[in-house]
Amino acid sequence: MGYYIMQDSAVAEFEMSEYWYIKPDFEEKVQDFFAQKREPEVVLELDIPGKDFNIAGKGSSELKNLLKRLGVDSEILRRIAVAGYEAEINVAAHSQGGKMISNVFDNLIYMQFMDNGPGISNIQQAMTPGFSTADDLVRELGFGAGLGLPNIQKNSDALHITSALNSPTLVEIIIFF
Ligand SMILES: Nc1ncnc2c1ncn2[C@@H]1O[C@H](COP(=O)(O)OP(=O)(O)OP(=O)(O)O)[C@@H](O)[C@H]1O
Ligand SMILES: [Mg+2]
Repeated sequence: MGYYIMQDSAVAEFEMSEYWYIKPDFEEKVQDFFAQKREPEVVLELDIPGKDFNIAGKGSSELKNLLKRLGVDSEILRRIAVAGYEAEINVAAHSQGGKMISNVFDNLIYMQFMDNGPGISNIQQAMTPGFSTADDLVRELGFGAGLGLPNIQKNSDALHITSALNSPTLVEIIIFF
């Protein structure tokens, strides 16, 4: 699958790449979720500015408080907070900023992280534990071990990443309650 973007009045083609992880035994539940197209009960939408680590992390902590009030089990809450935090920090650390949309349903949470690029050219490589392109500033703040994406996968029931070089990145996470 390829698509076109305008660049210096030339047309360049970049290969869109996509990564799917679905936890064993969750295939049917995840398929049902996408097929049903239900309206979420609560939607929490927050901006994530690029390179602002005072704000990055606030969205997942706000989400955690909301879900706690809704009575979500503490172990599930922990997984949501970890996956959400890592995805949020990635938008701040590696992109020009974006947003986090948390869609809360009665039986699951569906989180979407979308940013304004520059995108990931090789998602499989980005998923490899230890792989990181974090710059010095990001490393000084203690990030850049290359463990965020593997950690998101470990804590998620489903993970879908769509990106391409010089394009937005979309990270979608599903965790059942
Ligand atoms: N939203 C994004 N936009 C562009 N590149 C990204 C994005 N998220 C991740 N990446 C790329 O994937 C790599 C691996 O991400 P991962 O979260 O696993 O590690 P990290 O962020 O570098 O370090 P850590 O999460 O351990 O602090 C990043 O270094 C970056 O190259
Ligand atoms: Mg990371």
